[in-house]
Amino acid sequence: MKILFIGMGYVGTTMGAVFANAGHEVSGLDINQEKIASLTKGELYFYEPGLQEMLVSQIGHERLSFTTDAKEAIENHDILFITVGTPSLEDGNADLTYVKKVAQMIGRYKNMEKTIVVKSTVPIGTTNKVKEWINEESTDPNPVHIAMNPEFLREGNALQDALYPDRIIIGSDDEEALETMHKLYQSWKCPILQTTAMAAETIKYASNAFLATKISFINEMAKLCDTLGVNIKDVSKGMGLDERIGPHFLEAGLGYGGSCFPKDVKELLGTAEAYQRPLGLLKEVEKINKNQCTYFFEKLKKSFDTLEGKRIVLFGLAFKPHTDDTRESVSFPIIDQLLKEKASVAVHDPVVHLSKDWITKGIKQYSDPYDAVEGSDAILICTDWPQYQELDWERVRHLVNEPSIFDGRNMLEANQIKALQFQYTGIGYS
Ligand code: UGA
Repeated sequence: MKILFIGMGYVGTTMGAVFANAGHEVSGLDINQEKIASLTKGELYFYEPGLQEMLVSQIGHERLSFTTDAKEAIENHDILFITVGTPSLEDGNADLTYVKKVAQMIGRYKNMEKTIVVKSTVPIGTTNKVKEWINEESTDPNPVHIAMNPEFLREGNALQDALYPDRIIIGSDDEEALETMHKLYQSWKCPILQTTAMAAETIKYASNAFLATKISFINEMAKLCDTLGVNIKDVSKGMGLDERIGPHFLEAGLGYGGSCFPKDVKELLGTAEAYQRPLGLLKEVEKINKNQCTYFFEKLKKSFDTLEGKRIVLFGLAFKPHTDDTRESVSFPIIDQLLKEKASVAVHDPVVHLSKDWITKGIKQYSDPYDAVEGSDAILICTDWPQYQELDWERVRHLVNEPSIFDGRNMLEANQIKALQFQYTGIGYS
């Protein structure tokens, strides 16, 4: 089958490569010439484990190509996936500008019967509007078949999630679209659930909101554990052994960041309010998440008379490991707080480079974590990159000024670290 992906972000690029890998002929369209030039050369412009290799191999097999020519691309394909971004507007609602522009562009260049698949995370009810936007712009009499097919890719694990998903959701009541979608996914070995488009949109938001709820729940428990002197890791483990609860997304820490959970929680809250069905539980989830950083920072502040002039090293800038994405990463509000307290701040991240703005604010970035910790008064772990677990902490102990670790991700073995004469502080874990 010939498939076009419109929007070459991490979802479009990953799914494009994976469909090419499954034997389809795939094109990727984007208005950003730099992105397309880079992908055409087989150079992934973002960090995603394993994807670079698949990109190069599929381009080599001539099953994957990229273009900025919208007219030609739309005319020559009959299955079009919409994978453009839906960032948050100031009021928290999703910005549908890009989705609408793409729909209108499809309408303008539509020359034959087409199946349109909305894969962008869109507010409930949008997929049906996409069809209207296409038809409003089109003079072509051939029908449009529309489906909603939410994505469940985690950054840093996107390739595995795309190849081996837990489930595939196909939301449509259009027979032609359903047939095309089932054919497209026929080699995938996981449950395929067929729903309405609106149910598919709701499943996507509800899934992210539920995972965010698990995280805020365990963070709330962690604070109680701090007071009780109970180890939150034991609690997570004990809870997770119950199959009805499951072990995932029960890691207490600095809370959730990234381009999805914060945005999708906000959007769902907004939708629910618009329908006069406010989601009180989810509001609390968001509030707990926002306060998690402050809770952590207070722990740091309490252990010093003043942070002024103290050398604080921050490990991790990405919102989670295995990605270079820093959107809604907790590291930056923490750096801001440190600057307000007039601390001297040094940072390390295995893949993220600080922008000039931060450097001019006086933050020093080190490529070697051992250089970063020299003379430090405290080390703050903000991203659970496995590299930090593998550090020679004894060597670190000899380099620092004060042996003090604030582990915002509870990633180190507290007892081992304490045995090296470090002061160790986690979240609900010490
Ligand atoms: C999330 C979902 O997991 C994907 O299924 C979904 O497709 C994607 O959003 C999306 O909507 O596009 P992602 O944002 O890449 O994926 O990252 P996650 O692995 O879900 O982590 C989100 C945040 O939660 C990170 O900041 C992570 O550090 C934090 N987290 C995760 C915890 O604090 N504790 C946990 O136990 C798990």
